[in-house]
Amino acid sequence: MHCIKKITGDLLWVGANDRRLAMFEGVYSVPDGVSYNSYLLLDEKTVLFDTVDKAVRHRFWENITEALGKRALDYLVVQHMEPDHSAALMDLVRHFPDMKIICNEKTRDFIKQFYEEDIASRINLVKEGDTISTGRHTLHFIMAPMVHWPEVMVTYDSADKILFSADAFGSFGALNGAMFADEVDYNKDYMDETRRYYANIVGKYGKQVQSLLEKTSAFEINMICPLHGFVWREKMQDIISKYQLWSSYTPEQYGVMIAYASVYGNTENAAEILACRLADQGIKTTMYDVSVIPASEIVAAAFKWSHVVFASTTYNAGIFVTMEALINDLVSHNFQNRTVAIIENGSWAAASGGLIRKKLENCQNITFMDNILSIKSSLKKEQLLEIDSMANALIASLLYITSNKENLTKTSTKNITAADTIDTNAMYKLSYGLFVLCARDGDKDNGCIINTVTQITEKPLRISIAVNKANLTHDMIAKTGAFSISVLTESTPFRVFEQFGFHSGRTTDKFIRYSDDARTASGIRHLTEYTNAVFAAKVTETYTYETHSVFIAEITQACILSDEPSVTYQYYFDHIKPKPKLPSGTKKGFVCKICGYIHEADVLPKDFICPWCKHGAADFEPL
Ligand code: FEO
Repeated sequence: MHCIKKITGDLLWVGANDRRLAMFEGVYSVPDGVSYNSYLLLDEKTVLFDTVDKAVRHRFWENITEALGKRALDYLVVQHMEPDHSAALMDLVRHFPDMKIICNEKTRDFIKQFYEEDIASRINLVKEGDTISTGRHTLHFIMAPMVHWPEVMVTYDSADKILFSADAFGSFGALNGAMFADEVDYNKDYMDETRRYYANIVGKYGKQVQSLLEKTSAFEINMICPLHGFVWREKMQDIISKYQLWSSYTPEQYGVMIAYASVYGNTENAAEILACRLADQGIKTTMYDVSVIPASEIVAAAFKWSHVVFASTTYNAGIFVTMEALINDLVSHNFQNRTVAIIENGSWAAASGGLIRKKLENCQNITFMDNILSIKSSLKKEQLLEIDSMANALIASLLYITSNKENLTKTSTKNITAADTIDTNAMYKLSYGLFVLCARDGDKDNGCIINTVTQITEKPLRISIAVNKANLTHDMIAKTGAFSISVLTESTPFRVFEQFGFHSGRTTDKFIRYSDDARTASGIRHLTEYTNAVFAAKVTETYTYETHSVFIAEITQACILSDEPSVTYQYYFDHIKPKPKLPSGTKKGFVCKICGYIHEADVLPKDFICPWCKHGAADFEPL
């Protein structure tokens, strides 16, 4: 018997659910089943958006024939040729001799690869931006390559402002009566499976997802109809903002996820003690036994958490099998932009830690905690200090974002625009503070932390900035003669200083955690969060000294973003820079004044470089 759901007055869901599928794509367990969504538009022309998997072809056929009644199907829009959405394609071709297949060139090639029937006369090719009218509705076609296959496109119906989004915004899980995300407690009951679907199916293709988000942001969207999971008609920003985070590999949860592989429980014991130390300090933690929990769940969790600890026994002189599979999975899913700590175990030749690190070194923007904690068979009492030290290092790196929660609400989301001219009141935000200085050279955006921005004259409105010559931003300003200044506020978490101050723009993308694309009128990026004022400026003179250049610049834009106080250098040292507790038993050593890293030793070598912030020995002081 048919089972159809009404989406709008002339749009029907004619898909079907599979609750017996053991493994989606042969890899991913789907304990809650999966839905294969197909949508039928009953306009002057009849239009079907994709079909279903072969497992549910029978129900789909009952649905489509009931929904069409005596009408024929005029158009089949093939947005995605993966067989879970195209298994009934040839059934439709045979049943509806006049039906046209609307698809792009790549899809046509894939149809020829999957099927031998000659369907050339049926194909109606479309490309980016093409439209067709079906009566009341006009369909706009938007290419979305690699979300999740190369031929994928999405469709925007400008009449009802519906985005047919193919795999994007989909989820694992069958539909159990409710069709719309607002009919269920989505965040509580479905977001985890949505994240697992995203991370494992399209997680590798963050850039392509960002590109799709950018393209679709140009459309007013009242409804999203994906090929799996619920239809979105309310609070669409809930899912769109998650996609912005996931596709930019930005953590959702600041805390520590521990994935461990333990044969006899000793590695697990070390992992558990670390989790307890962290939790005792108020850090959110979670643990995954990689031998028990499906890798797809752990991959999804790695897309969520900011800090990840891998703890693995050594096995056959390598990484334990399930941990090795997980690490390979993470690398192939573009795991990046995370802080990682490693614990290894080995009764005679511990090797797993170094091997895990080597594999993860292939990932972008991974910050490794300094030392691998190495266990011989089981954790010893004296090694508790090492656990403490690892916990403290993780805590120091965790930025205390939770303690800043109240302040977070004070941050602005305003973007300076071309229309913003010069608000001279913005000058009052300048102090001996801390600023993010940004520049742009071609397609490259970069930024660094500086502490000297001073007004020189009022008419014309001029400032001076001093920039270390070693910074890429310095070279970009010297070349382009333009920059922006974001004045940081007291609620700025340490991670912002870490992001812009402790990495080089030559090897990292400083804006990778930023899902917005705020720019001055001159096209230079600036911050909107933790920023009370933004300036754009044009260099008029340059003076160079031993280590720094001083740029004199004329202000071209000045805008106030919030009333929050500017952070001063003193405030930063007193309230923002983490003060890790010394591991009990620490006797002699040196602490980095910039980031708080502790180097335990009697003597600090002159050429010592801080492994966290890369500052030299001059920035260390004795404990
Ligand atoms: Fe649901 Fe990429 O297919």
